Amino acid sequence: MIMASGRLAVVATAVLIGTIGATGCSASRGDSGATTAVADGSAPGDEVAVEQHQGRAGAAGIGDPDFPNDGNGGYDVGHYRLKIEYDPERKHLSGVTTVEAKATQNLSRFDLDLSGFTVGKVTVNGAAARFSRSGDELVVTPSRTIPDRSAFTVEVTYAGQPKPVRNSPNLGTYGFIPTSDGAFVTSEPNGARTWFPGNDHPADKARYDFEITVPEGVTALANGEQVGSPVTQGGKTTYTWRESHPMASYLATVTMGRFELREGKTASGIKNFAAVDPRYSGSLNELYNQSGRITEYWSKVFGPYPFSSTGGVIDDFPAGYALENQTKPMYGGFNPGDDVIAHELAHQWFGDSLSIRRWKDLWLNEGFATYAEWLWSEHKGNASAERIFRNRYAVDSGAAIWKYAPGRAKPDDLFNDSVYTRGAMTLHALRQRIGDPAFFKLLKTWNAEHRYGYVTTPEFVALAERISGKQLDGLFDAWLFTAKKPTTW
Ligand code: TRP
Ligand code: ZN
Repeated sequence: MIMASGRLAVVATAVLIGTIGATGCSASRGDSGATTAVADGSAPGDEVAVEQHQGRAGAAGIGDPDFPNDGNGGYDVGHYRLKIEYDPERKHLSGVTTVEAKATQNLSRFDLDLSGFTVGKVTVNGAAARFSRSGDELVVTPSRTIPDRSAFTVEVTYAGQPKPVRNSPNLGTYGFIPTSDGAFVTSEPNGARTWFPGNDHPADKARYDFEITVPEGVTALANGEQVGSPVTQGGKTTYTWRESHPMASYLATVTMGRFELREGKTASGIKNFAAVDPRYSGSLNELYNQSGRITEYWSKVFGPYPFSSTGGVIDDFPAGYALENQTKPMYGGFNPGDDVIAHELAHQWFGDSLSIRRWKDLWLNEGFATYAEWLWSEHKGNASAERIFRNRYAVDSGAAIWKYAPGRAKPDDLFNDSVYTRGAMTLHALRQRIGDPAFFKLLKTWNAEHRYGYVTTPEFVALAERISGKQLDGLFDAWLFTAKKPTTW
């Protein structure tokens, strides 16, 4: 992140004093130049006052060196309101995004991530703001500097044909993907920008309200819960959804199309919502039942379910993959087996409730979700995790998986098999080393301590050592950070 120079740091303090003392923490009333100069002991109109008035531009990236332009610096989003109207026939989206954020510096200018579209208008705290486009950065210059720590609201009006990221060499096609009857919306790692302007990195989670308008007969699905019934007027239906728990941008969805639905509750009373494209009619009950059953099981193993509902969606877009969209995992063009459902639902705890701060720690998502598949197999009386581990471990020492250290996911090969399988093997090696009681206590504690928050690998290693009372750096070094087959642990 940008380092403040000594002089600017002094100015920032002065502004803080001025802002709190004179006007409270409100962006719209934050024009505190004269007050600041007095608080700072310097005369109005001198260089200091001018400088604070100008503030600093927020960074174009949130500070993940592997994805330098993902997310943005200088503010923190608390809430998105996404108003989206989509016409599947014309593949046309028009949207109004309202971002409620808090400045983390004096902000003279800031970015949002947005890919494609024509931006019609941007306002900050209700006043028109200047804006420009540069690659995937929408650069916004408010009419006045936003003081550090103050809340502000940005509204962006935009429209155009959404363009998902297509056939990226290591990430495939993702983002807002138009389908014959709507859209399949799966945005990992940075495809949220293909459908709304925001802070597109998991290190800035926020709450979401969705208002989605589609032609009558089309169903619009999003994260969380429906608010009221859909409203149809003039051949269009508006669906309102709300995700009231913090959510990473890549987990947000507005998948639309023709869907058959089943709603109810799991055995312990968690809301369960399943939706399938009519082509997968025959899979609706199985998806509903398995999702319910697996959510119940993970609640016992990992701790209480973190969100307001569980379930899943099968669309007919032939992605061939699944994504753990918060509360509604999506399966693209296949009928998921219970192993895949177990994987995506485990992500609700590992990846969704607990989010990685930087992409290099991706094994904290994928290694855990893959290990969950092994636990599910063991639970069902199929192959034990131990047996699956041995099988995978038996792979020849020259195999690719041993050349890729999973504890440091590579930006040009993020979703490498090693991050998944060797990540899962790491957890099994740990389980062997510390024993079942400590291992399962660790999984639950890890979740409880970071619920709805952010995590990094060193934090996991530290907790594993704390709970087991063992020194584990050798184990983690061998399994996560060494590009060769581990032999002892
Ligand atoms: N996280 C997904 C899983 O393992 C895989 C995935 C990576 C993905 N990038 C994606 C899915 C983009 C959909 C879109 O469950
Ligand atoms: Zn996964």
